[in-house]
Amino acid sequence: MNKFCLALLMMGAWSKAGYALDREQQQGRILLEKLCSQCHAVGPTGQSPHPEAPPFRTFGEKLYDEDLKQRLQDGLTTIHPDMPTFHFRRRDAEAAVNYLKSIQQNKKSK
Ligand code: HEC
Repeated sequence: MNKFCLALLMMGAWSKAGYALDREQQQGRILLEKLCSQCHAVGPTGQSPHPEAPPFRTFGEKLYDEDLKQRLQDGLTTIHPDMPTFHFRRRDAEAAVNYLKSIQQNKKSK
């Protein structure tokens, strides 16, 4: 194996090793934990307390829908009656979406 492959392998291990969240993402996480963790699994592991609420790390594609940030600000509602309506400030919505992106199981770069 050449040095280049080795370096790639190490980089792979490194990126899986920790969820190095930047400050904004941490803020997003705190916010989501406060508001949503009653029903959704907010972190990179664990089950949702509400059986029908999808864990945040499984949203995947949905996040890349540019809408989500806007929807968080305008009032996120679903057809599900259990889920309350939320209104996020712009900065908070950005932080939340950035955090969510960081924990997706199948990261997709855009
Ligand atoms: C009281 C419980 C509850 C809380 C609190 C809650 N959710 Fe939900 N959420 C649900 C349930 C149940 C579903 C599944 C809805 C369905 O499939 O009809 C859901 C689905 C979702 C979906 C996917 C549906 C869609 O419209 O795309 C998103 C995104 C979502 N929640 C985000 C959030 C965010 C962000 C928060 C915190 C700000 C939050 N939820 C707080 C119960 C909750």
